[in-house]
Amino acid sequence: MPADVHTVGVYSPWFTAMLRCRTLFTHMAKQMMRAAQFEKGGPENLYVAEVARPVLGEGQVLIRVHATAINRADTLQRKGLYPPPPGESDILGLEAAGVVESFGPGCSGKWKIGDRVMSLLAGGGNSEYVASPEKLLMPIPEGMDYINAAAIPEVWLTAYQLLHFVGKVQTGETVLIHGGASGVGTAAIQLVSLAGAKSIVTAGSENKIATATSLGASIGFNYKEGDFSQKVLDATNGKGVDVILDCVGGSYYEQNMNVIATDGRWVLYGLMGGGQISGDVLAKLLRKRVSITGTTLRARSLEYKTKLVGNFTEKVLPHFKSGSVKPIVFTTFPLEKIGDAHKMMEENKNTGKIVIEVIQDTDKKDEL
Ligand SMILES: NC(=O)c1ccc[n+]([C@@H]2O[C@H](COP(=O)([O-])OP(=O)(O)OC[C@H]3O[C@@H](n4cnc5c(N)ncnc54)[C@H](OP(=O)(O)O)[C@@H]3O)[C@@H](O)[C@H]2O)c1
Repeated sequence: MPADVHTVGVYSPWFTAMLRCRTLFTHMAKQMMRAAQFEKGGPENLYVAEVARPVLGEGQVLIRVHATAINRADTLQRKGLYPPPPGESDILGLEAAGVVESFGPGCSGKWKIGDRVMSLLAGGGNSEYVASPEKLLMPIPEGMDYINAAAIPEVWLTAYQLLHFVGKVQTGETVLIHGGASGVGTAAIQLVSLAGAKSIVTAGSENKIATATSLGASIGFNYKEGDFSQKVLDATNGKGVDVILDCVGGSYYEQNMNVIATDGRWVLYGLMGGGQISGDVLAKLLRKRVSITGTTLRARSLEYKTKLVGNFTEKVLPHFKSGSVKPIVFTTFPLEKIGDAHKMMEENKNTGKIVIEVIQDTDKKDEL
């Protein structure tokens, strides 16, 4: 027997075992992904680690994420103040843009592998792969890169929900938008214009107000320069505003009550100024016949979100293609620097969205 054959015969079980290990290792590596992780606390507690890829459930699609973004909710979740809804991923990230990688059971066949999509998520977006309900996928508008697409789902769908599902804004009405240069605010200003209504904003600097007016706000007031309510009344000839989009709450309560018009709709969707109010609250509400509605999006049912995504896809997405509305990207960070992104948001430095690049230079490498 030739020596080499004999050698192979002796070592073949060892080689086979090695090959099996390597195959298993490669298979396992394929099932892992990089994702943002954190220990409860400050932005410095964020880091990136290898974790298991999501396992797809009924009606879910796996997205290979190119870009994602951060939101205030992520900063609250990191502090331990806003846990994910039951059954949702505990990885941060409420939106993602990327390509369809694979399908779970029961998908409809509407999408195909490689489609460029963006999605509204209840969590899990700050990672290389995320499972999304198929019903919440939206096509990335033609010609738009992943970075801009990642800036759309959470704040645009929130703003659309606030204005149309809750606030029922009508043509010719006036909407007061607080946090006018925030992610939600910059989307809301443009949606108010699309609805044929007028917006007035508040924000904390002249630069932010200039951005808001460049996007379509009729006027803006710097809340750091004192009471804005008389200025808003002057700007509306004493009538006040029909709708308030309020992400501030407590610290603005008195001023909001002064500026809301009779029969006004006050949509409360955040509490950046605290949740405490005092005084003759009910009498004022009664006299002006004001309705206050509190609303959140993340914990809503799949049916509700599906309807929202469907309406938005039909009524707003075509306007991104035509250029009449645009996502506002303030800056981008690579996934490994997500702590810096949270810090920037908590220092109120951003105007519009802070986007996270999961595949860096994604738009230079990938065809649109
Ligand atoms: N309910 C929901 O479903 C829902 C969904 C999405 C977002 N939200 C809420 O919407 C708000 C905006 O979110 P975002 O991601 O768009 O935020 P963002 O881009 O981080 O902008 C928030 C801006 O609000 C201003 N602000 C912060 N604290 C304030 C205070 N105490 N008083 C007045 N203004 C203050 C800051 O700008 P200035 O420089 O102008 O002060 C800050 O840059 C947050 O409260 C978020 O939790 C709610």
